Amino acid sequence: MWGSRIGLILAMAGNAVGLGNFLRFPRQAVLGGGGSFMVAYFVALLLIGIPLMWIEWGVGRHAGRFRKGHVPGMFAALWHHPAAKYLGVIGLVIPLAVFIYYTYIESWTLAYTFFSVTHDYWGRATQAEMVSYLQSFQGFGAEHVHGAWTPFLFFALTLFVNVYVVSKGISGGIERLAKVGMPVLFLFAIVLAVVVATLPAGPGGETAATGLQYIYEPDLSRLGDANVWLAAAGQIFFTLSVGMGTLQAYASYLSRKDDIVLSGLATASTNEAVEVVLGGTIAIPAAVVFFGVSGAVAVAQSGSFNLGFATMPVIFQQMPFGGLLGFMWFGLLFFAGITSSVAMATPILAFFREEFGMQRERVAWTLGGVAFGLGLLHVLWLEYGFLDEWDYWMGTFGLVLFAVVEVILFMWVLGPSRAWASLHEGADVRIPAFFKTVMTVVTPLYLIVILVWWGVTDALPILRLEVAAGGGAVAPEAVPYILLSRGLLVLMLLVFLWLIHLAWKRNGYADRSGFVDFDEETAAEVAA
Ligand code: PHE
Repeated sequence: MWGSRIGLILAMAGNAVGLGNFLRFPRQAVLGGGGSFMVAYFVALLLIGIPLMWIEWGVGRHAGRFRKGHVPGMFAALWHHPAAKYLGVIGLVIPLAVFIYYTYIESWTLAYTFFSVTHDYWGRATQAEMVSYLQSFQGFGAEHVHGAWTPFLFFALTLFVNVYVVSKGISGGIERLAKVGMPVLFLFAIVLAVVVATLPAGPGGETAATGLQYIYEPDLSRLGDANVWLAAAGQIFFTLSVGMGTLQAYASYLSRKDDIVLSGLATASTNEAVEVVLGGTIAIPAAVVFFGVSGAVAVAQSGSFNLGFATMPVIFQQMPFGGLLGFMWFGLLFFAGITSSVAMATPILAFFREEFGMQRERVAWTLGGVAFGLGLLHVLWLEYGFLDEWDYWMGTFGLVLFAVVEVILFMWVLGPSRAWASLHEGADVRIPAFFKTVMTVVTPLYLIVILVWWGVTDALPILRLEVAAGGGAVAPEAVPYILLSRGLLVLMLLVFLWLIHLAWKRNGYADRSGFVDFDEETAAEVAA
């Protein structure tokens, strides 16, 4: 159980605020044309983001009555049908897969925090030189700046810290991490945002205001482009952590006396403030001041991580206290990352503890070992798009698929009235009534449209190897690695389907009658 309400909110906000807010958002906003993207972004926030945030807290807390903190159990608690638990497999495989590659990227931020303090990349004055440095760290490209073991070491270290935190439990590990990590993150982000906002005009006369104007000036010109809408919806998913099973896992440790309406809204609002205000004020305006709007757009197009790992370090080197600023930037990314990755580990821990009676420490360290083993493949084969495959099928497409199933189970199988009543147990405020219609009709329809549209325009060409998951053409030499990457995901799905089957058999659950309701049991005991 959570120790305090503020601890819960910080942990939930820590779950949502992640690399997505500071690296993914600025890039997506620039690629989507700034102001146009933001219009589609806010529509998605209102119609799918906030509704899903509430639904996921509801699904999680509902499952908590039956002591279920993992999605197969959550789905089975909502729908008394043998298929429900198997549908829940996506709620185990997605967070596990994303945990593995996310902690790897998180390990770059840890490494760069260190490299900023030691001025390791100092002297690389252009973005091209910094990109070459990044590629050397990622294990490809022409240069060899560090020992070959360096990325492995930082990856192992990052996993170690993650495992250590989750092995200490919800209030003893995750909540304590959030209480330290989140304030530090806020502080660093605010300092950096202020520094960037007050930068003197750059060589082309641009100021931070030029960059802010590019993002925030409403612009309807690209709203006819379906891709802008899809990208905006994808960003809302990723940044709010919906469609994965982590918010639900956190919410399962709440009771029916706890409010989830206001807390869910507070989580979403915190994430949005951090993303739009802080995330929006750091990377893009800084890049615009130094390289102009077209320069910033070019970097964003050149690769997912170039804005954060190449442009920002070039800028820091030209500023007073550059080492400190670099430390704060990568340090804040690390804290943003780790408070999210520990959340991804939570559903797996819940599954093995609740269904197989394993000790928390044991599951946590085993998970660390498995993540390191599979993560090595990402480290080794990053350049062949091994990671991009997982990021697409699990971290982009999978989230929407998961959300569709979940919304249908909660709003339709449980039913709108019971869902509404469940959300309002212990609530401090009421959700405006019109959201009931949104959540029952608009959200599922919006999701299905996105799923189908994405399926046809994106997923099919990627599946057929016509386009690479990370964009661009598929290099012929990458094909075996891409197929291997997918094969591994399929294998993980099969293993977990089998584990779910075993768990149900082992514990003698009857699909059609549901689980023991611990709330009713306690009530009966008290009455007796
Ligand atoms: N929301 C996190 C981010 O913005 C990523 C995440 C997704 C975390 C899903 C947990 C679950 O980086």
